[in-house]
Amino acid sequence: MHPRKILVTSALPYANGPIHIGHLVEYIQTDIWVRFQKLRGNRCIYMCADDTHGTAIMISSKKAGVSEEQWIERVREEHIADFTAFDIEFDNYGSTHSEENRKLCGVFWSALREAHLVKGKDVEQLYDPQAETFLADRFVRGTCPFCHLENQHGDNCDNGHTYTPADLIDPVSTLSGATPEVRTAPHLFVELEQLHGFLDEWTQCGKHLQREVANYLKGHFLHEPLRDWDISRPAPYFGFEIPDSPGNYWYVWFDAPIGYIASTQQWCERSGEKLDDWWRSDETEIHHFIGKDITYFHTLFWPGMLKTAGYNLPTKVHIHGFLTVGGEKMSKSKGTFVKAATYLEHLEPSYLRYYYASKLGSRLDDLDMNLQEFVAKVNSDLVGKVINLASRSAKFVAESGLSAEYPDDGGLFTQGAAAGDEIAGAYENCDYNRAMRRIMELADRANPFVEERQPWNLRKDPQRAGELQDVCTVALNLFRQLAIYLSPVLPRLAAQTGELLGKPIESWDESKTPLVGTPVAKFKHMMQRVEAKNVQAMIDASKENDMSDAPANEATNEATDAATFEDSDQPLKDEPLTEEITFDEFIKVDLRIARIVSAERVEEARKLLRLTLSLGGDERRQVLAGIKSAYEPEALVGRLVVMAANLAPRKMKFGVSEGMILASGPGGSDVFLLSPDDGAQPGQRVH
Ligand code: 2FM
Repeated sequence: MHPRKILVTSALPYANGPIHIGHLVEYIQTDIWVRFQKLRGNRCIYMCADDTHGTAIMISSKKAGVSEEQWIERVREEHIADFTAFDIEFDNYGSTHSEENRKLCGVFWSALREAHLVKGKDVEQLYDPQAETFLADRFVRGTCPFCHLENQHGDNCDNGHTYTPADLIDPVSTLSGATPEVRTAPHLFVELEQLHGFLDEWTQCGKHLQREVANYLKGHFLHEPLRDWDISRPAPYFGFEIPDSPGNYWYVWFDAPIGYIASTQQWCERSGEKLDDWWRSDETEIHHFIGKDITYFHTLFWPGMLKTAGYNLPTKVHIHGFLTVGGEKMSKSKGTFVKAATYLEHLEPSYLRYYYASKLGSRLDDLDMNLQEFVAKVNSDLVGKVINLASRSAKFVAESGLSAEYPDDGGLFTQGAAAGDEIAGAYENCDYNRAMRRIMELADRANPFVEERQPWNLRKDPQRAGELQDVCTVALNLFRQLAIYLSPVLPRLAAQTGELLGKPIESWDESKTPLVGTPVAKFKHMMQRVEAKNVQAMIDASKENDMSDAPANEATNEATDAATFEDSDQPLKDEPLTEEITFDEFIKVDLRIARIVSAERVEEARKLLRLTLSLGGDERRQVLAGIKSAYEPEALVGRLVVMAANLAPRKMKFGVSEGMILASGPGGSDVFLLSPDDGAQPGQRVH
């Protein structure tokens, strides 16, 4: 069969923090798929890069006292080291802050312009004429125009009055001390609605997306006109300046996915390939692997951009769920927020690769890591069922080698070979859980063969040397067959098997033919059992890491002694308690835990963020929340909140709001979202 030509990507990790075990679900999932394709003889390349632009990088680098360029270089080195240690093998690992990416952004931009998809809209903002920068409301202070309280925020005072920054008496920029002006900043928007017809067809045709994703897009976005996408940010912004709009920068989500192509460009330059053969060719398949939180960008914006610029559309976007540990969101205080580097100090990477493979299916369900199950599965499946086949037989044929002819094994090898297509089908569909189950069923059939024939006893009788060699030949061939099937997941085991039997594993079809008459090397230890105490040590170390980030001792002591707190009586004075209600009245309000799955600024509105909340399963609600001055939308994604879920939907100027999220504070930048503890589940009722 003609080999397929496949380009694969994982989401580009953001360059503002270390890789953790939650990230690794996706990189391990993708790496397994890529290795599988290569083993099947397909031409497959795996592209990734660091995602390096935007406000968060500016803040992180400033905090660290280094330039943005130094910061992203440092993080990139750490990311590469972590990925390499977990055997994640990219064909190229680039950076979105590269010349290749800048040029390609220009190509996409010109195409959007030529298609008349870009339009300018004025967004009103405060401007510091001395610092020559636009200011978010929180960078302005002044005297409240209502109560004349001095040194107040740009949009509200400590007495709860709200106003616009232009109304402040004696306003001052906190950046320079200058008097700010209200200016309008031109932003550039992409009119996505013009691509509505195309996106409807592409998302709903059943070929490119999981069914649940297509339904989600239809129900949440495509049933109404698509909103304009604000694609520019005024300086200062760490990113690429827009060539035909000096002083404005492409928003990080514009240049990030183009980074997939820029990374391919770097690989092409190194390998003597042509970019158009991969990104503008009917022969190439493009497969993106992403988490469900970034569905919107990859299934609407990105296909729209690719279509407009004449690049290949994704053949498939494979979307996975989030990692939970012990049924809960990863938690720093519980030590389950484990960095890749911390994991590696205590445990072998192969354990995690196998464990994730055994849990990953083709749907979007969250993957739960249960630490007892992790230990049990690795020990029982890999050490107990697979490696045992080799460790109990290889040493008895180190001198004789394998039999010259493959002995009668009661049909075990043939049955194993026949299962190859089904296992391959499961890998192809990202149903690794099914693939692992089938492989372990084969291991379950192979082990009794060895146990019944007891090579360790046969070796005591020189008369039965031939029998011993035959039993070990079967055991080692069944072991090798399993190692071939497992090699996308466990490349180290595949390499060790190749060394043991003097033949590297290079193709899936090698599972169809047994090895005979070849030497067997001295058996070397292949994998340690997982010790529960090492898992515990990893959890403890993750807790310690978190504590080291915590404030110094005095603060900790204070926190243990509530009596030492002196809480102001101002909030109650400002807003006295309202009249008593009955319990029945109270329970009419259906308060629920919800997870923020996406958050974006409503550009035309001064205070609003548009949030998509998950109530578990497919239940989604859109809420317009007045928290723009207090929260960066990027920081909210994934966070649990409490929502009033049975409020009648309200039609607002910028869309319908289907509930409210609970927060305290007077408003402006002093808004404090209520945070349920780790462990709360979306959809749970709050009592
Ligand atoms: O969600 C994230 O972490 C983004 N850095 C993913 C970007 S993927 C692609 F578009 F670049």
